[in-house]
Amino acid sequence: MRSKTLALAAVGAGVALALTACGANSANPPASSGTSSASTGGSSAGGGTKVGVILPETATSARWEGFDKPMIQEAMKAQGLDADVQNAQGDVTKFTTLADGMITQGVKVLVIASINSEVGKTVATKAAAAGIPTIDYDRLNLGGSSKYYVSFDNTKVGELQGQALADALKGKQGAQVIEIEGAPTDNNATLFYNGQQKILKPLYDAGTLKLVKSQAIDGWDNQKGGNTFEQFLTQNGGKVDGVVAANDGLAGAVITVLKKNGLKVPVTGQDATAAGLQAVLRGDQYMTVFKPIKQEAEAAAKLAAALAKGDTAGADKIATQKEKDPTGNRDVPSVLLTPQSITKDNVKVVIDQKYVTAAEVCTGDVAPLCQAAGIS
Ligand code: BGC
Repeated sequence: MRSKTLALAAVGAGVALALTACGANSANPPASSGTSSASTGGSSAGGGTKVGVILPETATSARWEGFDKPMIQEAMKAQGLDADVQNAQGDVTKFTTLADGMITQGVKVLVIASINSEVGKTVATKAAAAGIPTIDYDRLNLGGSSKYYVSFDNTKVGELQGQALADALKGKQGAQVIEIEGAPTDNNATLFYNGQQKILKPLYDAGTLKLVKSQAIDGWDNQKGGNTFEQFLTQNGGKVDGVVAANDGLAGAVITVLKKNGLKVPVTGQDATAAGLQAVLRGDQYMTVFKPIKQEAEAAAKLAAALAKGDTAGADKIATQKEKDPTGNRDVPSVLLTPQSITKDNVKVVIDQKYVTAAEVCTGDVAPLCQAAGIS
């Protein structure tokens, strides 16, 4: 069980954070971005079999609109599928309405990256009743009924974050750590946390590092993350030596507070967004985690293509791994891809793989830093 600090209620009052939710968390679509296939209707306006895809949010991470959407569109097209990719903008009612619309239109498969397990579960049940198979995308719906899941090794993501922070604080006996975690309703956030603790807990227990506070942030709300961090920092007399931030958006909010307080300490992140990579090159953020979302999109598209034909044997051949759903007490056939730790030394990897372009990252003060890192 993860420990939680009930400290959010008082946060925010009087804390005027000049946080630009977008600025801290923006990314442009990657170079490979396809055009939107905004066709509607169960019949295939684009010529392919119709598949519905619902993404959860835009504000929690630049990944959803910047990477997932264009990469899913492209991958589905390559499989002869016509994907209608929509975003629920963090609104569970909108998520359900979008799903209802797609079910009515008669999509052949529904791919869902849910805001929380409850809404994901409800949608999967409705889809199943209409004979439409669902695939859980990136986030597993606990207690849900989707037959397949596509994601990353999310415990490993947390391990990479924990290990990077441990490396960055090596030799700093008793270094003080604050943890700003993802949404308590997102199973991934739990897995990230578990992975981090595999590395950090023994160090806390031994007194090598000192945990100041750990807090899960509702809805991955970046601004709330920044406010919470500021409150913890103040309570701790303005002292912190390192921060676990669960993704680049939260890291950006934390860095804004650190700067305001004249501090620069190692901060983790995730998603390899343009803003995150810039912060890594500047040395404001120690690391980010690169998750090759193109592979995730391709796996989802291949699974969708098999399921659209009713080829479950084919789908089983693709989803050869397993993810445990502890709530539903079942192993869900999965594709779980491998994440990679990115520090100043290997930012180039993300750019070479065309997730972000050098032009997006190497702007203004970052341009000379790119040159030094061999990025052009
Ligand atoms: C995803 C992360 C993302 C976070 C906030 C998680 O479920 O795996 O990549 O940063 O949600 O959107």
